[in-house]
Amino acid sequence: MDSDFVAVILAAGLGKRMKSSLIKGLHPLLGRPIVWHVIQSVRDAGVGRVILVVGHQEDRVRATLGSGVEYVTQKEQLGTGHALLQTQDLLQDFQGDMLVLYGDTPLLTPRDLGGLMEAHRSVGAAVTILTAVVDDPTGYGRIVRGRRGEVENVVEEKDATPEQLEICEVNTGIYCFRAKEAFPALLQLGCNNTQGEYYLTDVPGLLARAGKKVATVVSPDPQTVSNINDRVQLHAAASFMRNRNLAGMARAGVTVVSFETTFVDVGVVVGQDTVLYPMTFLEGNCRVGSGCVIGPNVTLRNTVIGDDCRISYSVVEDSRVGSGVTIGPFAHLRPGSDIRDGARIGNFTELKNALVDEGSKIPHHSYIGDTRIGKGVNIGAGTVTVNYDGRQKHSTSIEDGAFIGCNANLIAPVTVGAGAYVAAGSTINQDVPAQALAVARNRQVNKEGWAAKNRGTK
Ligand code: UD1
Ligand code: CA
Repeated sequence: MDSDFVAVILAAGLGKRMKSSLIKGLHPLLGRPIVWHVIQSVRDAGVGRVILVVGHQEDRVRATLGSGVEYVTQKEQLGTGHALLQTQDLLQDFQGDMLVLYGDTPLLTPRDLGGLMEAHRSVGAAVTILTAVVDDPTGYGRIVRGRRGEVENVVEEKDATPEQLEICEVNTGIYCFRAKEAFPALLQLGCNNTQGEYYLTDVPGLLARAGKKVATVVSPDPQTVSNINDRVQLHAAASFMRNRNLAGMARAGVTVVSFETTFVDVGVVVGQDTVLYPMTFLEGNCRVGSGCVIGPNVTLRNTVIGDDCRISYSVVEDSRVGSGVTIGPFAHLRPGSDIRDGARIGNFTELKNALVDEGSKIPHHSYIGDTRIGKGVNIGAGTVTVNYDGRQKHSTSIEDGAFIGCNANLIAPVTVGAGAYVAAGSTINQDVPAQALAVARNRQVNKEGWAAKNRGTK
């Protein structure tokens, strides 16, 4: 929408109330850092240039968020007003408007920000504050208005009189400033308040007293403008965002059996007519096709799943799964699993770095690692690829149509040729030619009448 708006996001504080060694802005919310969501909402509102004011754990913040935004350092965290002032050099030639917001308000919609920017422009104010009218204003700065309804100032809770504490119109911490009005006012700020900080919230009062126009827009939804200061609020924000995203998925044709117990990170795509049963976790970069049944109790992490798959009680990480595949219950697919169409990975099976080609089956109790399995292969219960000799990993190849009997050990490196059979209980340490039968176990000996003879002597 407004390419001549610049956004400034303040995120230099540690976030003491989180009681964490990790800076507040990097705490994850549906798989992305809190401040990532703020950047995203600004971009969704059409602002191209985004400046982040950083301080605590600056290197980590920069490494996480990358070069898509500009960074300004606030060396000492002397308050939100002081934080915004740090952008003065970077913006010295900038004559336009700044959208200023805090890095702990991750639920914002384009409507919140678009409405604010539009109102600011149409009124031509020096500052426009996005406010919210809430039932419980605890923790927020209060909007103090004069007799004609004009904004006199914003008072922080810790500095408010008992009467001001009763005010239910609060400062969301989201503002538009005309840059050339903001910086002179920021330079005038004092820190004579309870917290000894340079408050950004004192700027509207300063501008009002200087006869400049101070406008407000009341947010249509107090929840989307709420901020995160502690982990109780983090939980509340996560629940709200999860509900909003799951509702979007449900409206697009996904059956979500229980919103309360389904955890889908932002950016995950799920196809139409897929059913998500309770305790499903879709984390990182996941894509699930249509017509699948996922859950209960499934974690998929950075994994792509085709159409018409069934996955229950299982964990799949950094893997690819084709269409018509059944996984579980109780399977663990570790990174690098590549399961092609129509394959079946059954109970208590672990895979790692394994290709399982079309229609092959590993139905029970197997460990398959560093292995290529061809098409139409059947792996008997309890098969183990012995891929590690204590120093190095080795690979196994099982070619199309091979049949591995139960409880076989395949000592890698080894190849079982196409259509070959491995007898149950065999320990295979040499390649098996195509179409051969490999038997590698002791012959059975039956001692006739042994039991009767021995029973008498005991
Ligand atoms: C702030 C507002 C309050 C408002 C509320 C809305 C001030 C003084 N108060 O209070 O009126 O109702 O947000 O969410 O602005 N930060 C810096 N440098 C600093 C201090 C803070 O970058 O020196 C950043 C923090 O990292 C944080 C943001 O500013 O992202 C807001 O700081 P926070 O301590 O959360 O302010 P609140 O107490 O919530
Ligand atoms: Ca806050």
